[in-house]
Amino acid sequence: MDFLTPEEKASVPKVDCGLGHACQFCPKETECKLDKSYHNKVLIEDRLQEIGQIIVVLANKGGVGKSTVTANLAAGLAKGGFRVGVADADIHGPNQSRFFGLAGERIRTSKAGLDTLEFSDEGIRHPVKIGSLAFMVEDHTTPIVWRDAYKHDFIHHLIGSFNWGPLDFLVVDMPPGTGNELITLCDMLEGSNVSSVLVTTPQAVAQMDSLKAGRFCNERGLPVIGALENMAGVVCPHCSGAFHLFPDAGLGEALSELGIERIAKVPLAPELAMGSDNGEPVITAQPDSAAAQSFAPLVEAVAALGRKDFGASVAEAMGTVFQENIDAEALHDALSALPQGEREGLGDEIASMLNQEAGRLRGAVSENGAD
Ligand SMILES: Nc1ncnc2c1ncn2[C@@H]1O[C@H](COP(=O)(O)OP(=O)(O)OP(=O)(O)O)[C@@H](O)[C@H]1O
Ligand code: SF4
Ligand SMILES: [Mg+2]
Repeated sequence: MDFLTPEEKASVPKVDCGLGHACQFCPKETECKLDKSYHNKVLIEDRLQEIGQIIVVLANKGGVGKSTVTANLAAGLAKGGFRVGVADADIHGPNQSRFFGLAGERIRTSKAGLDTLEFSDEGIRHPVKIGSLAFMVEDHTTPIVWRDAYKHDFIHHLIGSFNWGPLDFLVVDMPPGTGNELITLCDMLEGSNVSSVLVTTPQAVAQMDSLKAGRFCNERGLPVIGALENMAGVVCPHCSGAFHLFPDAGLGEALSELGIERIAKVPLAPELAMGSDNGEPVITAQPDSAAAQSFAPLVEAVAALGRKDFGASVAEAMGTVFQENIDAEALHDALSALPQGEREGLGDEIASMLNQEAGRLRGAVSENGAD
């Protein structure tokens, strides 16, 4: 990837080409004399600057519903008015393309980066942007075999080379486990607004596995928004009565020992089992179903993070604008024409009016979230 000696590297000027993809996707890669590791670093930094919050959906175990939760969380946030992306980090079995009805689609690379594909629905203002390796393989039935070096690069490409644009949330669908991909991602996202959601099922063995993922988060200092218990009971399609297939093996207590809250319980439901086949998350396809509604506490907890972040950034921007108005030369010139007593009084009145307005807007932002 980078064949320069340390001396040669030091002599290469730190100039970036401004292209939105990594050097591996660049037609000029062989003749380019720029510092490529610098470009790849700048690329990731620039992308991260445009992303408000990164939510990593993980579990130590396979098949517990990480991808289902990712797709529904993303669609739920988009319904709430947020700008949302989904990064499919499961390089062995990428399937977000299926969950969003995009299986078999292909993407192009442009100067701005790799294309994301979009999922739209009636109630969604900003389509969900999906970035997946599945859009880059020749045939979606081909199994993908990756060496660790490529895995490392892939996680970088996923965040850096896809053209995400400005997002409130990027939801990352992880493969099972706390291996290379997760460690690379955590290293890369250090210092960014990143949190995690743990997915687990009620049985004891799955719990033990999810607790391992919880411990990993605690050790890495990766904040856990909460755990979602998936396949928690069955709702009878005939009588709507709920019953449990698996005994509750003390999940709540085990999680609280780790300081993790069980935030939502999602039932075992046929509409969720068909979610990937239908190519639409149940939260938009059947919003009134018990399965769709069961995601609400998770969506709300994650949205609250976004509102906090959104409110804070708007408040900061407004503060700067109002301060600029108060400091504006034109205002000072206009005031200087007035007698001194009046000048001070009017200046104070304008400053207080602008501050009041800032307070009012700040209140409105925190009440309405991203809407
Ligand atoms: N609550 C549920 N009720 C019914 N089916 C479900 C439920 N949750 C997930 N499924 C189904 O179980 C299968 C596995 O779910 P999913 O792919 O989301 O798990 P995963 O943890 O991402 O798996 P992997 O570890 O392979 O990535 C899918 O077919 C999905 O549709
Ligand atoms: S090889 Fe890399 S640094 Fe050079 S122009 Fe292409 S993307 Fe930019
Ligand atoms: Mg999955």
